[in-house]
Amino acid sequence: MKFFIDTANLDQIKEAQELGVLDGVTTNPSLMAKEGITGKDNILKHYVDICNIVDGDVSAEVVATDFAGMVKEGEELAELHEQIVVKVPMIKDGVKALKYFSDNGIRTNCTLVFSAGQALLAAKAGATYVSPFLGRLDDISTDGLNLISEIRLIYDNYEFETQILAASIRHTMHVIDCAKIGADVMTGPLSSIEGLLKHPLTDIGLAQFLKDYAKGNS
Ligand code: E4P
Repeated sequence: MKFFIDTANLDQIKEAQELGVLDGVTTNPSLMAKEGITGKDNILKHYVDICNIVDGDVSAEVVATDFAGMVKEGEELAELHEQIVVKVPMIKDGVKALKYFSDNGIRTNCTLVFSAGQALLAAKAGATYVSPFLGRLDDISTDGLNLISEIRLIYDNYEFETQILAASIRHTMHVIDCAKIGADVMTGPLSSIEGLLKHPLTDIGLAQFLKDYAKGNS
């Protein structure tokens, strides 16, 4: 299972990278705005800065909503760095753009996916990644994990190569549940990755080991 961090914050990306388990980064226009990154030149530079910190894929989202605009923007993003994956929304022109990018060797992440039907379309169009937003479904009393299971079943039935990127992860249990289902990738905040570290018995056990060592070695 690949671990992506879902942020445009360079400090958090560095921290996750230093942990040694990071496989990539996902961003979106809201996350970029949160970091105060505005203006085309600054936005493009920020994507390159992220690519220079991590070894893996970096999703950069188009903001155009028509086919020609998405193609123009996506080609420009893909040119920035070999690690860039063009993030495309699940709308009609987005599906056409996914197919265009797939035919032209540009890797994509289909975003804002909330149903198995949308995920099937993304795979048919040749998306590299599909991003079902499980947290946002949970937020409206709908079982986000069930969607991940449905997509896993459909993709396995037909051996689609599109990778399931479980997005909108809110916490550590989401990560574990997605791993059980067989999501290929998860993207979440740094806290969802660091939460995996925690167990009180580890802390108690370590404190005891250090105490016992100190008895004979002080
Ligand atoms: C996915 O790539 C999105 O950037 C992200 O996971 C959305 O998460 P949110 O629902 O926490 O905004």
